[in-house]
Amino acid sequence: MSYRTYFQHCIAPDCGAEFDLDARLYVCSRCGGLLDIERREPIDATLLRDLWMTRRASLDPRDRSGVWRFREFLPFTDDTQIVSLGEGNTPLYDAPRSADYCGLAGLKLKHQGCNPTGSFKDTGMTAAVTQARKLGARLVVCASTGNTAASLAAYAARADLMCAIVVPSGHVSHAKLAQALDYGAKVLEVDGNFDTCMNLIRELAEDESVYLVNSINPFRIEGQKTVAFELAEQLEWRVPDHLVVPGGNLGNSSAFGKGFRELFESGFIDRQPKITVVQAEGAAPFAKFYSEDEHESFVNEEHPQTLASAIKIGAPVSWQKAWRAVRETGGGVITVTEQEIADAKAIIGRDGIGCEPASATTVAGIRKLGIKESESVVAVLTGHVLKDTDYVIKYHSENLIAPGDVRIAGNFRNSPIKVASQDLHNLQDLQDILRIM
Ligand code: F0G
Repeated sequence: MSYRTYFQHCIAPDCGAEFDLDARLYVCSRCGGLLDIERREPIDATLLRDLWMTRRASLDPRDRSGVWRFREFLPFTDDTQIVSLGEGNTPLYDAPRSADYCGLAGLKLKHQGCNPTGSFKDTGMTAAVTQARKLGARLVVCASTGNTAASLAAYAARADLMCAIVVPSGHVSHAKLAQALDYGAKVLEVDGNFDTCMNLIRELAEDESVYLVNSINPFRIEGQKTVAFELAEQLEWRVPDHLVVPGGNLGNSSAFGKGFRELFESGFIDRQPKITVVQAEGAAPFAKFYSEDEHESFVNEEHPQTLASAIKIGAPVSWQKAWRAVRETGGGVITVTEQEIADAKAIIGRDGIGCEPASATTVAGIRKLGIKESESVVAVLTGHVLKDTDYVIKYHSENLIAPGDVRIAGNFRNSPIKVASQDLHNLQDLQDILRIM
């Protein structure tokens, strides 16, 4: 593949400007529209399915990565020095308790929390940091609610690049912050929310030496789109009726939309799943836009509020791409309450899977969607349960307080039992204690 095969393309219908891959852009320099990376010639899919399966047995680091295994669809030449932590290759679990909770015969959970830094961001970050190195950037930056920060910090360390991340002070879980610090990133805690951080970082990234890797960066989306490939492969190329994803900055839904579109256009699959995006009720500008009759004006949420801190976002940068994904696939956008998120999270836990709060919007949303029992559904879990243990402990001890001072009921709580050491001597004692529960 020649690098020239790919180009950057403005998605604004009345613009459509094209740029080389080496142009260090995040949005169209002509009209400010979002950029996609497109391929000039179609790909012949016939041999790729087998080749990709063969690579599963290979020891080449590119084949071990669940992203680079699909490199025929990535805008990099074969001799590119990739920056990889062996991302992707995440499990697709059957989740019977969650299915039952949603009134479905079956439900599959694609667990992106099983990536090297514990979130879906790694699949995009491997591509974005590879591009950063290719462009000769010295400093990579992002704004983040925590996961992008942790992921970038790790990949920047692998690439030996300086890394600065900007986060909303006091609104990032300790686990995510700890990761970023440990991986050596400079962490700037700013008074403001994620959207404030995003605006700041976009201004900083106007300097040539700085490379911005939030999901507005089209190379991030290229990496993340491969999750659609991996998922389709795991399902033996039979796509589900529905794919349900959480929505924050809306990069993930955009990436799934692009991935499934490319698979469809290349003849790998015969239809696309309906993509439904789920937002927390207090941080739901995309859902509001969707529910409008004309879908004409997108209004940012000035004061987004949710305990699912990963998706506490009021001005999602990729909404036009996410909207395209929802529209093209016949999906939708819905909201769920804080209580619904918390309960759904506990149910996912009972399946032995677990996830962070933002990810649980999916199961909460599926329960609300009224999907027919027989339809096939995949929910994407975006982050690991250990990303926000504070939330988990509070839920199970009924101390979780949502915005507006609303106490979340521990409907599926599993509180720890305090036991005096002298009361636990033998099996009979244990049985007594467990019987009381
Ligand atoms: N789930 C988790 C666990 C996330 O961390 C995020 C976003 C989302 C869902 C939403 O995905 O933004 O692509 O719609 N986290 C970003 C961050 C914003 O900075 O870590 P999205």
